[in-house]
Amino acid sequence: FSVRAGLIEPDGGKLVDLLVPEPERELKKRETALLPRVKLTRIDVQWVHVLCEGWASPLTGFMRESEFLQTLHFNSLRIDDVSFVNMSVPIVLAIDDSQKERIGESNRVALVDSDDNPVAILTDIEIYKHPKEERIARTWGTTAPGLPFVEETITNAGNWLIGGDLEVIEPIKYHDGLDRFRLSPVELRQEFERRNADAVFAFQLRNPVHNGHALLMTDTRRRLLDMGYKNPILLLHPLGGYTKADDVPLSWRMKQHEKVLEDGVLDPETTVVSIFPSPMHYAGPTEVQWHAKARINAGANFYIVGRDPAGMGHPVEKRDLYDADHGRKVLSMAPGLERLNILPFRVAAYDKTQGKMAFFDPSRAQDFLFMSGTKMRTLAKNKENPPDGFMCPGGWKVLVEYYDSLTPS
Ligand code: ADX
Repeated sequence: FSVRAGLIEPDGGKLVDLLVPEPERELKKRETALLPRVKLTRIDVQWVHVLCEGWASPLTGFMRESEFLQTLHFNSLRIDDVSFVNMSVPIVLAIDDSQKERIGESNRVALVDSDDNPVAILTDIEIYKHPKEERIARTWGTTAPGLPFVEETITNAGNWLIGGDLEVIEPIKYHDGLDRFRLSPVELRQEFERRNADAVFAFQLRNPVHNGHALLMTDTRRRLLDMGYKNPILLLHPLGGYTKADDVPLSWRMKQHEKVLEDGVLDPETTVVSIFPSPMHYAGPTEVQWHAKARINAGANFYIVGRDPAGMGHPVEKRDLYDADHGRKVLSMAPGLERLNILPFRVAAYDKTQGKMAFFDPSRAQDFLFMSGTKMRTLAKNKENPPDGFMCPGGWKVLVEYYDSLTPS
């Protein structure tokens, strides 16, 4: 067994970087004044960020129709006759009839934010129909009403999609005090190299870290050391883009994660905490492929996956939207992710006999307590404590404060 030197190669061999070099920015900015304009939503800007830094490498801009169709039908993109990369969610920009009219025959458009500040130029554009129902059905496997990402970005979006190559005028910043945690794939790779990592294992999350999550991460580290790696580094990678209303907001999650490291649940020496700029789809097995693929580009060669990744309750029926085992199974087989080592985990739950989180043992199911998100929220809202060993006290306190901040005084 030999430990490979250097980090995993990005998809397509080279990290895409769509930021206009500093000396050309002023000129590009001036050019935007002459171009037809497309206004970006908050989530569109998050996609510009994702594309700009190469999380979706080798994609170089919002998808044109051929890329959109490959994503919808194959969950992957061809790079040449024999090779392809995984790409499971469409990264597209919608425009309406009047915007399409205004763009006319232009080959380039300026993308501006809600305050009309120029963000990027989209070049060699292609405008094509936005088949909303098909996009929703194929990405989520259902068109049931109430899918959060769909209601937020698709239902009321325009009937056209505009694709092209992006030239991003300035790095995307949010000025929320968290920008220093938003490391790009290049910066993450530098950080892993600086730390002399011989393996990088990524943990995607959109929830506060409980000791079940921590169990997956510490168990992975132990397994990697057993395999002969000397310095495996954990990328604790909370998703920072759009999340649904009842998820804990990013700023509170970051405070909670900080406590988890402070309380020693995870080791700061071997952990890099950073923010993944993508918006959340809640598209289960389809989305988890995107989550994994993006982390290859950031230099991770191991990816942890547990119960019901990127899942949520069915918006209409009283059940999970996806089979809780499918995300893990699909990820282990996904075309275009062969280079990534998937570390699948069984569900962790609170073992009452041990007073801690442990892997669920179906032969003594009665000993285990499942803490749903809803149950956690109810406890925190009522300022009650979860069972000892469920989450570190410092982390739990942050959640109680968050729910407290929601109650009108
Ligand atoms: S996700 O949308 O980012 O997947 P979440 O933050 O809840 O949601 O989960 C992060 C990761 O932990 C995912 O890989 C998920 O499968 C895993 N996970 C969450 N809860 C459990 C659990 N109780 N047991 C095992 N794995 C879990």
